[in-house]
Amino acid sequence: MSGRAPDVLVVGGGLIGCALAAELAGRGVDVTVLDRDEPGAEASGAAAGMLTPQSEAQARDAFFDLGIESRGMYPRWIARLSDETGMDTGYRSCGFLQCRFAGETAGDFEWQRALGLRVVAESGETLGARTGGRLSPHVNGAFFFPDEAVVDPRLLTRAAWLSALRRGARVRTQVAVLGFVIEKGICRGVETSEGRVPAGAVVDAAGAWAAFEGALPLRLPIEPVRGQIVALRLPAPPFDALVAASDVYLVPRPDGSVLLGATMERVGFRKAVTADAVARLIGAAARLMPSLGDAVFASAWSGLRPATPDALPVLGASPVPGLYFAAGHHRNGILLAPVTATIVADLLTGGPKRDLSAFSIERFAPALHLA
Ligand code: GLY
Repeated sequence: MSGRAPDVLVVGGGLIGCALAAELAGRGVDVTVLDRDEPGAEASGAAAGMLTPQSEAQARDAFFDLGIESRGMYPRWIARLSDETGMDTGYRSCGFLQCRFAGETAGDFEWQRALGLRVVAESGETLGARTGGRLSPHVNGAFFFPDEAVVDPRLLTRAAWLSALRRGARVRTQVAVLGFVIEKGICRGVETSEGRVPAGAVVDAAGAWAAFEGALPLRLPIEPVRGQIVALRLPAPPFDALVAASDVYLVPRPDGSVLLGATMERVGFRKAVTADAVARLIGAAARLMPSLGDAVFASAWSGLRPATPDALPVLGASPVPGLYFAAGHHRNGILLAPVTATIVADLLTGGPKRDLSAFSIERFAPALHLA
């Protein structure tokens, strides 16, 4: 798009929708976000906030590169948000300790070292020192990823929301999108609970709800994957780094709370917190760090991750002109927010082009079935 700044409608005010709106507004685009509740009410407000592209990766691919790029964007993005809003978003480049118990096989991260990324093999005393000696004696090895980081997604979403507003974006809360306006094959806006909202372009950033129950002009294969999280409270922050075993991750917060995450459950749109999941998360955390058994139970919640069949996001243009996607970020929506905002804003404003074939909705053809 060139010439006059186009109208862009972003459907969904999670972190990705707000980050995109702020990016577009900063480029002079007239942008409105619609959220059926309020920004951060769903997955962005439920996430633990780990920015950890290295520790779960098995091999280099387009998704790994995207994650590393986005993690690298965080320090500048956070500094800019802090300048604009005065908000602390809880960003810390604290590192991630992936532990293994006796009998578990160590991963192979040589390929990451070959790319110049930092991975440190830990055992014995150095391992104990990372967690103040709190790890179970049955943990007999770990990899430490010093450049993995964390953020508080609730605070970050509020900061991105505020930044979008300060840059001139409009954010309309309590507006549900019911359908998409398609004229001569082109998306011209949406139908909402408050009537038709015309737009030059529409970006679907509606998280687990991005398929709109078939109301989209094409089939977007996204389904919710529930994640439950437990928060424990300790008198003081017990350790600095993110710590994980194969069945749980621990996210320490500066106020002394530790988040235990997270389940992966395909149960539709049911956001319940279950006794089973809470017991399993606390059991796994206490197996990894026995002293957590003395912590005070603070709360538990769940959120719905938006998952595609190949677990990769759907980014960019679609076969329907005027309709774009910033969706399907599954376990990595917080990590991928800044790079997603830049990619989609570039597409909408004629910025640098890049190969998005791995993330295009067209990879699901011929199942798209244009209506
Ligand atoms: N990013 C961690 C999770 O989705 O549980």
